[in-house]
Formats: sequence, structure tokens, C-alpha cells
Amino acid sequence: MSLTRTERLLRACRGEPVDRPPVWLMRQAGRYLPEYRALRAEGSFLDACRDVERAVELSLQPLRLVGTEAVILFSDIFVPVLALGVDVDFRPGPVVARPIRSRADVDALGAPDFARSIPYVFEILRRLRAALEPEQVPLLGFAGAPFTLAAYLVEGQGSRHFAALKRMLYAEPAVLRALLERLTELTIDYLNAQIDAGAQVVQLFDTWAGILTAADYRAWVLPTHRAIAERVDRARAPLILYVNDGAHVLDEMAESGADVLSLDWRVDLAEAARRVGRRASLQGNLDPCALAAPAEKIAAMVQELARAAAPARGHVLNLGHGCLPDTPVEGVRAFTAAARALPARGS
Ligand code: CP3
Repeated sequence: MSLTRTERLLRACRGEPVDRPPVWLMRQAGRYLPEYRALRAEGSFLDACRDVERAVELSLQPLRLVGTEAVILFSDIFVPVLALGVDVDFRPGPVVARPIRSRADVDALGAPDFARSIPYVFEILRRLRAALEPEQVPLLGFAGAPFTLAAYLVEGQGSRHFAALKRMLYAEPAVLRALLERLTELTIDYLNAQIDAGAQVVQLFDTWAGILTAADYRAWVLPTHRAIAERVDRARAPLILYVNDGAHVLDEMAESGADVLSLDWRVDLAEAARRVGRRASLQGNLDPCALAAPAEKIAAMVQELARAAAPARGHVLNLGHGCLPDTPVEGVRAFTAAARALPARGS
């Protein structure tokens, strides 16, 4: 079976036969790469997101430098939130000038007009798609999931316990409900606009949904994922759902309707494959810190992940969370090389 990188990823996402799992890494463009730091040096992070030429180059860097088999748009989950009129700064994580704490704050959010407020995102995607088409390398778009965006918007920034967010959930549920509804609409429109601009796969990042109990996740998070899976054009671009620290909500993730479930490193892939069955493909899930191991050890871990995920409907090799600023570049290269060296199946 001779597959292009685009075919291999799309087929794995949809649960169709492939020769071996495709490989890419969450946060593959970032500070662990000296070439990223050099190009990012002038101006702010948001400047880099808005500068089409530079963002295209930053998106493509990992393809040449570390052997990844897919390119993800260089941007941030907070870029579409700018289209709501929210004042966001990066230090280095998102910091919201006026946190959302009341119904009036939710109602004050503007109506998003992406083409006018963040046109650069779609221009970056169009240019990337044109650059990648001759080589048949797939292009991923992404968005932050409503609950994770709400977590930062209510808290104002990242947090250890997200106490303000949970206070809103328990004390003023109608306010949080209204906020999540706004963000769900935003996310659906944003992902569909990315697909129109050339994204072939889209990933939804729900980094903080794992802080909830399974029952609260079912009540607050699952409906947002379901609405997104239902209304994003998955016939044109399969949907990957990532939930960090989500081992206790695997069954709920499998009910989302997403094509692929991206699992953090705490989840046992073999067990997940059994529980998820034919409902979705799996993505993951090496601990990003394991990339500090010697190359032979990384290869052994990749083989083990591929073996564990073999009974799944499909498998996309990836990390269990994003690359970290101190991730060794050599470890990332060893990871993608080990994936490419996996024995071909079914040929
Ligand atoms: O994956 C990629 O290579 C594409 C680009 C991408 C970025 N952020 C660029 C970025 C993606 C997919 C994201 C997603 C994102 N952003 C998430 C979800 C995924 C996850 O990691 O859980 C979250 C929670 C954010 C919010 C955010 N943005 C944080 C917490 C931070 C600071 C910490 C960090 O990891 O650097 C950012 C800033 C950010 N986003 C940087 C990059 C390359 C670093 C900015 C810099 O260069 O100063």
C-alpha cells in the first residue's frame, strides 16, 4: 500500500486501512526549536500570529526540521476570541484584561466577523495549503474548545484550581451556560471557516475539561463537543478531540461524535481501544517528557504504542500533550523516525 502523507492521515482518522500510523506532534512549532526562537524574536507572540509570511514559515518549520508528517496552522486558541472584542495578551500564556464574571459580561461579547477581524488566519491556511499540495502533506486547523476558552475568560488566566470558573458553574450556572453557548457557536463557525480556507483535518483542544468530574463533564462539556461534531463539516475534514487529563471521561469522549480521540499519556491505549471500539480512531499518546530518552528507548516506546493501538479503528501517533519549551529536538526527530520505521501492515 503506497499512501501519500495526506491519505495516510485522513484514512487513519476515518478508520480506513493504512500501512502504518501517521505521525505529528501537538505544539510542534514552538520554543523548543532554535529556529522558532530566532524567527519569533522580534515583536510579540500575537504579532507573529498576525504576520502571514512569518506564521507560514513557523508552521512549516517542523516539517523540514523534525520530520513531522502533518502541518498545523501556527496560531493560538485565543486568536478567534479577539474577534469577540476581548482584550487578550500573552505572557506567555493568555491573560484576559477584563475577566468575564456576569451575564452582562457575556452579553457584551461582540458578534464575531472573522473575515474582518482575523483575516490573517485564513490567508495563512490558504498559503499553507498551496505550499503543501504538491508534496501531499496534510494541513490541520484547530480551535480551543468552549470549556477551555471559558476557563481562561472567567479566570482571566491559567490557574491551578480554576476556582472562579467552578464557582460560576455551581453558583451561577445560567451565566456559564450562556458563555458556553456563545463559545460553541464561535467554535463551529471558526472551524468551518478554516475548512473553507483549506484545513483538511481540524483538532479541538479541551485542555482543561479534565478538571471536572465525569458527571459535570457530561452535563457541561459533552453537549458542546456534540454540537461541534454535528455542525462542523466532518465530511470535508475529520475532527480530532483532545482532552488533557481525561482518563475518567473516555466514555463521554467516545459519545462526542468526533472522528478521533486524542488521549493524554496517562491513558492506556490498549484499554482505550477496547472501550472506544469502532466509534472513533485514537491519537497519542507518548508523555512529552519521554522525548528526553535515548533514541533507541524512544523507538521502543513508539513500537509499544503502535502495538497497543493496533486493535483501534485507526491510530495517529502523537504525544499525550504538546511539546514543551525544553523538549529536546533530537527526541522529536527520534520519535518521527521511529514512526516512519514501523513495519507496514496489511501489505
Ligand atoms: O501546535 C502547534 O504547533 C500550533 C500552534 C499552537 C499554539 N498554541 C502556539 C503557541 C496551538 C495548537 C496552541 C494551542 C493552545 N494554546 C492550547 C491548547 C493546547 C495545550 O497546550 O493544551 C492552550 C491551552 C493555549 C494557550 C496558551 N498559549 C498557553 C498556555 C501559552 C503559554 C505556554 C506555552 O505553552 O508556551 C500560549 C502561548 C503559545 N501558543 C506559544 C506558542 C508557540 C508560545 C508563545 C511564545 O513564543 O512566547
